[in-house]
Amino acid sequence: MFLDNDDEKILAGEYGETRQKMMEILVGLGKVFGAGELVPIASAQIAGASYKTIGKWGLEWLNSLDARVAVPSVLNPIGMPRERWEEMGISREFAERQMAVIEAYHRLGVRLECTCTPYYLSITNYGDHLAWSESSAVAYANSVIGARTNREGGPSALAAAIIGKTPKYGLHIFDNRLPQVAVRVEMPEGNAHAAHYGAIGYLAGKEVGNRIPIFLGMRPNRDSMKAMGAAMAATGAVALFHVDGITPEVRVMRQRSRMDVEALETITIEADEIEKLFTDVPVDAVAIGCPHCSDRQLDTIASLLSGKTTTKPLFIFAARGVVQANRHTVAAIERSGAKVFEDTCMVVSPGMDRFRGIMVDSGKAASYIPNMCGSVARIGTLDECIREATA
Ligand code: F3S
Repeated sequence: MFLDNDDEKILAGEYGETRQKMMEILVGLGKVFGAGELVPIASAQIAGASYKTIGKWGLEWLNSLDARVAVPSVLNPIGMPRERWEEMGISREFAERQMAVIEAYHRLGVRLECTCTPYYLSITNYGDHLAWSESSAVAYANSVIGARTNREGGPSALAAAIIGKTPKYGLHIFDNRLPQVAVRVEMPEGNAHAAHYGAIGYLAGKEVGNRIPIFLGMRPNRDSMKAMGAAMAATGAVALFHVDGITPEVRVMRQRSRMDVEALETITIEADEIEKLFTDVPVDAVAIGCPHCSDRQLDTIASLLSGKTTTKPLFIFAARGVVQANRHTVAAIERSGAKVFEDTCMVVSPGMDRFRGIMVDSGKAASYIPNMCGSVARIGTLDECIREATA
């Protein structure tokens, strides 16, 4: 793999042991995947931030590092809201360990935004190379924005953040981004909500596995594509999808005559398969914001909750920057008794483990909650979730 002079010096240890280790990670990855060079990145999003997932050894490793990140970098959601952890039922012992993880990243120069929606916080452009970790963020960046990132592990995203580059292979290369399977969707009758797209993603992920799908016959908005990509990345290993007539690369691929949808295998998802996922099981809490809510979703939640009071715990998750930019909306939501938490989410926080049944509007959360929280998950539309929490 080609390395420039500076990269060679870093690899030789001339810029310190941590940078040398980080360069070794990138070069090792590049060799395994046949990268020809390193490519500069615009930003990094680093997984391995919740103490629930990285534990004691991960924290020790972070504390052993001595360098600063070279590009804007944020974290994945952590195990609790930083200031309001007691309200989420988090133990002091966990909170102290979680704060030690945050402090370790802070020392490395990582911005303490802990979110799977970094694209709401700073501009990410079409064609930018990135090193992002969280699977739904990766799917959104690649598909909806047209940026380019592989799905990085925590250590490789951190290595890329510190070096400012990532090995150029996989989804960093245009030719590897062409659709490999077509998915024709028979939409349910009536208005399709983001939760329906989450359910479509849940079903499609199982069928397409790690191939790149192109969806036909649908017109999702950005929140719906966010939900669909997140679920597909959870039940499959989809890091990039296209939607015919909607996502930005489809037009480019057609212009370059690089796409022949007719020649692809076609999978069909029928309306009744989607509806079947919306089963009615008892729940004792409702959680919204997987992936973290957009401004628009917070507005909708506020209007659905207007004049209502919660009768069971209702948790809403969003990025700290999004919560701060929507203070009045968040205050209106919390007047109902709902809690809007930043930094964390329903899956990575141990605070959700005490519930037996959790209602969500997310195909990804429905897929992860049974294993990660030990609870039953039920999918509903945003409207149905609010009705359940205020019945
Ligand atoms: Fe984000 Fe947590 Fe869902 S990281 S995509 S809210 S599982």
